[in-house]
Amino acid sequence: MDVEHQHLIALVNTLHDRYQRGQHGRALLPVFGELVEAARAHFEFEESLLEKQDYPRLEEHKDEHRVLMDQLVELEGQLRGGTKSIEGDTFEFLCDWLVDHIVNADRDFANHLRGAGVR
Ligand SMILES: [Fe+2]
Ligand SMILES: [Fe+2]
Repeated sequence: MDVEHQHLIALVNTLHDRYQRGQHGRALLPVFGELVEAARAHFEFEESLLEKQDYPRLEEHKDEHRVLMDQLVELEGQLRGGTKSIEGDTFEFLCDWLVDHIVNADRDFANHLRGAGVR
């Protein structure tokens, strides 16, 4: 699980590096697309794990994933359509999202899983 989180963080970092080197628009699509797919795969994996473990706040957590995915997909579409470029606020959003998701929401179920003997 943490390996996947690190992968997501690495992708955001890559995106940020490129952004600082002056890429703001479509040029970022490949990395951004990778981030979207990695997030999707991660959420699916997480949800299946949480279902198996009868996590009590599963629906709530799924909702969080859904909202985030919608935002990512929307951004990707805007990027592809050229109606939005990536700016500083995008990274604020991505970092807030990652930190909030991993540190807060996921920690709650990590505690739950540890209680159930899953690592
Ligand atoms: Fe996660
Ligand atoms: Fe999650």
